[in-house]
Amino acid sequence: MTWLDSEKVRPLLRTSLFGKEILYVEEATSTNDLALRAASQGAQEGYCVIAERQTRGRGRLGRVWYSPPFKNLYLSLVLRPKAKGASLYPFSFLSCLSVQKILRQNGLQPSLKWPNDVLLKGRKVSGTLIELEPVKGFAVVGVGINVNMAEEDLVQDLREIATSLYIETGRYWQREQILAAFLNTFEDLYALMGREGARGIVTMWEKEAKIEGKSVSFEKNGSTFTGIVRGLSPEGALIVDVEGRTFRIHGGELIWYS
Ligand code: BTN
Repeated sequence: MTWLDSEKVRPLLRTSLFGKEILYVEEATSTNDLALRAASQGAQEGYCVIAERQTRGRGRLGRVWYSPPFKNLYLSLVLRPKAKGASLYPFSFLSCLSVQKILRQNGLQPSLKWPNDVLLKGRKVSGTLIELEPVKGFAVVGVGINVNMAEEDLVQDLREIATSLYIETGRYWQREQILAAFLNTFEDLYALMGREGARGIVTMWEKEAKIEGKSVSFEKNGSTFTGIVRGLSPEGALIVDVEGRTFRIHGGELIWYS
């Protein structure tokens, strides 16, 4: 059992915002809960919460995020975005692009799946959950990265669909190094988004994910449709062509995507 040492993270950081303040806890219901609470009490942009385990780790659409102790990274960041009413997708893309980049720097070949998955050989290694407090003007980006979890740590239902860096490479990874690399990259891309707007991040994600031409099924107003992805809207929704009709698909509506 190896504890994550947040003091080992600091010397690796070259950020001026993200991870300047880190709250490290052994256990959280969800790191997003702690970050949301801290943000509502005035925590600065970039405030970071990490936990060794989550008792109620959550994913999109009310799913559970499997969070065994001492193996993986569970982190949440406080954002105070300037653009009001901003779509959440660009922040999610930004997080996924950051994970993709650091995995690539470590010799892996991650792919992206809309809206918030990072995959290795088709199995999910990382997911992002953004939660927004529009009235108070902050958002929390929660990121799970499966690092040192072994196949036998996974519950049966997840064995086909989830993976970890350890499972893919057969070696243990230093979580402090991954966390610092993530925060450094996230800050670079966040600054880019601040300078150039969300479109640049959306385009970058679109290029990396190669979604154009893929087939998707989705549900709208109680009916199921199947169509071909034409690209992303400026705010990050999927644009799908169904026999000449154009639909914009948001996260909750997608059923199947290949
Ligand atoms: C998903 O793929 O549906 C999103 C998963 C997000 C998981 C992370 S782990 C850290 C943070 N705390 C949570 O409860 N969820 C996010």
